[in-house]
Amino acid sequence: MTSAHGIDVEPLRDIVLDTTLDQDGFDVFEAFEIGSGNRGERVDPYPEFHRRRREQPVYFVAPGERGLYEADDGRQVVRVYRYEDVLRVAQDSDVFSSANHAEGIGRVFGHSILEMDGEEHTLHRRLIQHAFKRRDMARWKASLIPEAVDGTLDAFADRGHANLVAELTLLYPVKVIEAMMGLPAEHVEWYHRRAIEVISIGHELERALRASVVLKDYFEQVIEIRRRHPGDGDLITLLIEADANGRRLSNEEIIPFLMLLAPAGAETTYRATGTLLYALLANPDQLEAVRRDRSLIPKAIEESLRWDPPLTALSRRNLEDVEFQGQKVPAGSSVSACLASANRDPAVFEPADTVDEFDLFRPRRSNLTFAGGAHVCLGQILARTEMETALNRVLDRLPGLRLDPEQREQTFMTGQIWRSPSRLPVLWDA
Ligand code: HEM
Repeated sequence: MTSAHGIDVEPLRDIVLDTTLDQDGFDVFEAFEIGSGNRGERVDPYPEFHRRRREQPVYFVAPGERGLYEADDGRQVVRVYRYEDVLRVAQDSDVFSSANHAEGIGRVFGHSILEMDGEEHTLHRRLIQHAFKRRDMARWKASLIPEAVDGTLDAFADRGHANLVAELTLLYPVKVIEAMMGLPAEHVEWYHRRAIEVISIGHELERALRASVVLKDYFEQVIEIRRRHPGDGDLITLLIEADANGRRLSNEEIIPFLMLLAPAGAETTYRATGTLLYALLANPDQLEAVRRDRSLIPKAIEESLRWDPPLTALSRRNLEDVEFQGQKVPAGSSVSACLASANRDPAVFEPADTVDEFDLFRPRRSNLTFAGGAHVCLGQILARTEMETALNRVLDRLPGLRLDPEQREQTFMTGQIWRSPSRLPVLWDA
């Protein structure tokens, strides 16, 4: 039997999912939220970002002050907050190496594109881009993404009320990734839990390492099956067949990429879609403008990505001594570039006195949500397409959508490192 997208998933149904980690009733989603500093209360890091950007734009972090993803390995941790400095860290990959990820997230992903530098990165990026070609994107946009969104909305669209985070934004992006990879639908929930567990490395190390072993073993089996039974246009078959001047990817090279893709695709897009919906629902005049003129949707998406990016910072290791704003940072430091602060830098975004507000009519400047340079997010077109589809289908299918006034006080943005609303209770005219 094929999946809805014409990919034969039958051979993959023989894989026996390892459910050892599911047996203790542990709530991986709640644990991830708590572990990342989201305890259900409103968190607003922006006043501190503004203060730092103005007064201490190059901040030398004291050992006791390190954040969740700032390794306590004796290296100097330096945070930069100004747009120009954040952009430089993202763009100058000769000086700001990504190899530092090997000691962090690389422990669970393996040696992925995220931690590669120079020629190795260029070669892998070229091979992987083969699987993200415009032709495939157009096909995904036409069927796979709308089906994932609609399939999720079907469960509650006639109810008149819902929590759009738990019931829509958390669920649909992982269905998109699963369908892109050509995995059987019944593997999605299992896969989603493992994807979150592997990135829980900062607060649930042992669980993250165990999930990493289980997920790698799963992908090993999927790749072996796909080598014998190629799919048709699914990401895993495309990666197996990717060819750069006769160079192909081995299983050991494909697996870390697949490990990275699950959280990269699902965790970020889920948050970005929640933030987009929250920003519009909290600004009903702008929601109304979008409802009347759907051509405003791309502007709303860009502004929500600027206003509150899902991931607030990027980290690198500087390979030589550098200077930011006249301050010397010794080679080998751990440099944390605050994307969220850069996105509200009044030196770049206008009007300067309204950078904290969501305003889709703001003059367009490039935000740094997807970073920049060699490692600029590979999935940015996909992410924008997913957000656009989700918003269009929500507007089509949930007329008169509005925040539930009785739960308005408990509906807000939260999170220090990963940001989004943790709940979106809404009403509509069913
Ligand atoms: C709104 C959603 C998303 C955001 C905010 C986001 C953000 C980012 C950022 C900041 C980076 C750079 C990380 C670094 O260099 O340390 C990155 C890289 C990456 N992203 Fe995304 N991402 C999103 C969605 C996606 C999606 C949907 C996919 C694919 C399915 C994806 C795949 C990747 C990959 C493969 C990389 C590594 C690229 C490289 O190292 O060359 N992302 N993303």
